[in-house]
Amino acid sequence: MSASVKLSTIQITGSDFLRQKSPALSRQFSRLPPLSATNKYRQSSIVSVSKPLYVSSIESFGSLKRSSKDDEKRSLITCKAYEADRSEPIDENIQQLQTRSEAAKRFKIGVYFATWWALNVVFNIYNKKVLNAFPFPWLTSTLSLAAGSLIMLISWATRIAEAPKTDFDFWKTLFPVALAHTIGHVAATVSMSKVAVSFTHIIKSGEPAFSVLVSKFILGDTFPLPVYLSLIPIIGGCSLAAVTELNFNMIGFMGAMISNLAFVFRNIFSKKGMKGKSVSGMNYYACLSILSLIILTPFAIAVEGPQMWAVGWETAISQIGPHFIWWVAAQSVFYHLYNQVSYMSLDEISPLTFSIGNTMKRISVIVSSIIIFHTPVQPINALGAAIAILGTFLYSQAKQ
Ligand code: 3PG
Repeated sequence: MSASVKLSTIQITGSDFLRQKSPALSRQFSRLPPLSATNKYRQSSIVSVSKPLYVSSIESFGSLKRSSKDDEKRSLITCKAYEADRSEPIDENIQQLQTRSEAAKRFKIGVYFATWWALNVVFNIYNKKVLNAFPFPWLTSTLSLAAGSLIMLISWATRIAEAPKTDFDFWKTLFPVALAHTIGHVAATVSMSKVAVSFTHIIKSGEPAFSVLVSKFILGDTFPLPVYLSLIPIIGGCSLAAVTELNFNMIGFMGAMISNLAFVFRNIFSKKGMKGKSVSGMNYYACLSILSLIILTPFAIAVEGPQMWAVGWETAISQIGPHFIWWVAAQSVFYHLYNQVSYMSLDEISPLTFSIGNTMKRISVIVSSIIIFHTPVQPINALGAAIAILGTFLYSQAKQ
């Protein structure tokens, strides 16, 4: 876009206005450098040119024309231009703009978080309903990855989403991430097939403890003392919740613990592998789903297999009815959606904000699943969960 204004011998080129750092602001307010001009021009020009000029809009510059008589009567730049000594309103405007853009960003993050938690709650409810009627966690885990892969392949094919540009190196670095994602996903689903959803998530709130221990003993990282101290309520709270859990099951407990460990490795590999890569959060998660699906499918067939699935499926349909298939569809689709939104929100927020959001997500899942499934909870059990959750908040703060 190019527009110019001629003031006697002074020329202001509109295209100059656009060479600003912030395109959003440059569209609204462009600051011109002081223009040198002789007194003669200062007198003849209606606009004083000895001071910096602020132009709040350049939209009609291109159509400005000089007409002899009007020159003296009207300001040439009545179109929202004025002098620097009246800059206060502009500063206020800039402040207002910044406040508005910050509010818009906060609103956007709020929408991401609310969507992420809501999708996660729906996934957890349908996942448990499916597992209660059809206890084949390896197949349901595979179906969730398959649904996500299919959704994204269709989105890329129909250009709803732009397909990522990847190479062999990308898939090679993604492999360990996908392996850890697969193990963490199956382990969590196995856990939920054996114990209450709330219990799995209480144990999963202990993930920061695994993160610190792995970073310290395997990667040799050190942390400030408050980080180590925050592990006391996390480990203590999880332990208290575990020993007072009415429906304790060792496979369920170990599944959640393995999931924690696997997800810590997923995060470590993910950080190492993605340095300098420019794949969006949404596409990154899509590729992760596809690779995890390829890894998981043969294992699911080996561990459970089509024969067991066929018998289990008939039993589930006879107990629940034909709409059971919609439960399976819901758990699969919502698994992909909540993960996709969480990866998309990672593009917008810091890891710290993300980890606080993840803790809040666990609270919403724990509370809603207890209400929906009428999970019996003893006060001491609830206290353990609350201490563990508090610990994860303290951990987030200590890691800042
Ligand atoms: C899974 O099935 O992968 C787990 O439910 C994931 O749990 P998280 O995303 O809440 O850690």
